[in-house]
Amino acid sequence: MVDGQVIGTVALKEKELDQFTGSPWLAGLFVVPQYRNAGVGAQLLRAAENKARALGLRKLYLYTPRSRRYYDTLGWRLQQEVDLASGSVAVMEKILVPHSLFQQPPQGRRG
Ligand SMILES: CC(C)(COP(=O)(O)OP(=O)(O)OC[C@H]1O[C@@H](n2cnc3c(N)ncnc32)[C@H](O)[C@@H]1OP(=O)(O)O)[C@@H](O)C(=O)NCCC(=O)NCCS
Repeated sequence: MVDGQVIGTVALKEKELDQFTGSPWLAGLFVVPQYRNAGVGAQLLRAAENKARALGLRKLYLYTPRSRRYYDTLGWRLQQEVDLASGSVAVMEKILVPHSLFQQPPQGRRG
């Protein structure tokens, strides 16, 4: 939100593509045109991934007709191509490494 106006959206969904059994999904990533190329999309993705981690999820899928390269740069990997009536889409996945794995263990006393 900026000044009470929605400038972008993202969602977590249990079900998305009938042609692919994986779940859950990241969906609905959208940034209004005047706020694009300022990192809002990447911020929304991070927020959704963190929410998924907080829910205990370890993997997310998404599908995209045209933005595979965008998600590539943000750590998503191609899972498979799926043919829909509207054309081919890339199903991508991301493994959600728990943040706690990056934290230093408490320093114990040697001895
Ligand atoms: C895709 C989208 C969410 C990106 O939002 P954003 O806030 O502009 O993204 P960021 O600021 O995090 O990233 C911008 C960078 O991504 C690049 N980028 C944006 N869309 C891209 C795409 N479809 N393919 C490849 N790169 C893309 C930009 O060129 C820019 O690159 P730079 O940093 O090298 O200049 C936004 O363009 C959008 O809402 N598009 C319409 C809906 C859409 O396509 N949704 C996702 C597809 S499922």
